[in-house]
Amino acid sequence: MRRSLRSLLAATAVAALVLPLWGATAANAEPPGHSHADKHALRTQAPRDLAIGSAAWGQRDLVQYDRHAPTKYQQVLGAQFSSLTPENDMKWDAVHPAPNVYDFASADALVAFARANHQQVRGHTLLWHSQNPAWVTAASQTWTCDQARAVLEDHIRTVVGHFKGRIYEWDVANEIFQDTWDNGGVRLRTEANPFLKACAADPIALLEDAFRWAHEADPEAVLFLNDYNAEGINEKTDAYYALAQRMLADGVPLGGFGAQGHLSLLYGFDASIQANFERFAALGLQVAVTEADVRIPLQPGETGPTPEQVAVQAERYDAMLEACLNVTACSSFTVWGFPDANSWVPDVFPGEGWATIFEDDYTPKPAFTAMLESLRDATPGTSPRRG
Ligand code: G3I
Repeated sequence: MRRSLRSLLAATAVAALVLPLWGATAANAEPPGHSHADKHALRTQAPRDLAIGSAAWGQRDLVQYDRHAPTKYQQVLGAQFSSLTPENDMKWDAVHPAPNVYDFASADALVAFARANHQQVRGHTLLWHSQNPAWVTAASQTWTCDQARAVLEDHIRTVVGHFKGRIYEWDVANEIFQDTWDNGGVRLRTEANPFLKACAADPIALLEDAFRWAHEADPEAVLFLNDYNAEGINEKTDAYYALAQRMLADGVPLGGFGAQGHLSLLYGFDASIQANFERFAALGLQVAVTEADVRIPLQPGETGPTPEQVAVQAERYDAMLEACLNVTACSSFTVWGFPDANSWVPDVFPGEGWATIFEDDYTPKPAFTAMLESLRDATPGTSPRRG
């Protein structure tokens, strides 16, 4: 069991009385399970059983790497994080650009960087409706379900097999449910996802086999469902909860549920994230925040956000982290890249930005500081980190 300090204090009626004493102790003590080697690094302040990750794009930022002369970006990435997620390098279009061609060059570079920096790697992703290569999109127009299954099985066995023993969590299925606002409401993406489309008569059978193939290729990796708008309890996460129950009942090696955590200050924060994590954990699953960022609407001509926006951004990052800290089954908390210049947000949401935890000169933002303090204050956790 691990808890965030804030939650512990809120849970006790005498919180106000013990706060000064506790604060002094927590700031000075070296609780078991923590390494205080670098008091300014997220990875060293985190409980031992919680990986703190960032997305990174190997092709762009890690292919050129000299451990004796790292770039500033590489230095921060190595110092701050204990886990990396390939932002693009393990996606279909990157690793499987032609029917019989696999290209692991940039993904291997990312894994090599991670090993050199004693980091774990989250695999991302094996079954998704986006970033599929042109040959998949073209061929899928005429696929039978058997043909789609054969292509997916080959891909999963080859990719997961290639990285066997070097990936601790795999996002096997990404964004497989539509949203409430999509045509037809919350349901499996049997139109946009070419594999689910070819097997629309029984998409769950395909999905379940995808997890089985991945498990056979690397029995040690924990296999995740992953999605956005999946933080709180809502219609979409209800659908995931029902799917997870079904998969577990069918004996499928499902191991985790990931909430991406792409938030915007244009919307409120759904405080049911901890309760949502708890219900998946009660099924025996791990949970994770897999792609956290908090984008801010910026006024044209303004150079940055207002102090109020900066403060709310910090609260949002920290609230997601605290939900994770408060659920022992939360195995990893990953931010979706840094600094802002590397963020996907401005390309996709014009007028929004400043979404990551570091400014472009790597100055830590208040969101970073809030997270660092929550990690520092958290109780240690009981199980050693796998890796
Ligand atoms: O493929 C070309 C590459 O060859 C070229 O070097 C590069 C030059 O800029 O462009 C490449 O395409 C880019 C592609 O990623 C890489 O395959 C696109 O421009 C770029 O827009 C694209 O964006 C990525 C996006 O997924 C695509 O859907 C983002 O970097 C990445 O952060 C984003 O990540 C997703 C998660 O995987 C799933 N959840 C949502 C999240 C944000 O959209």
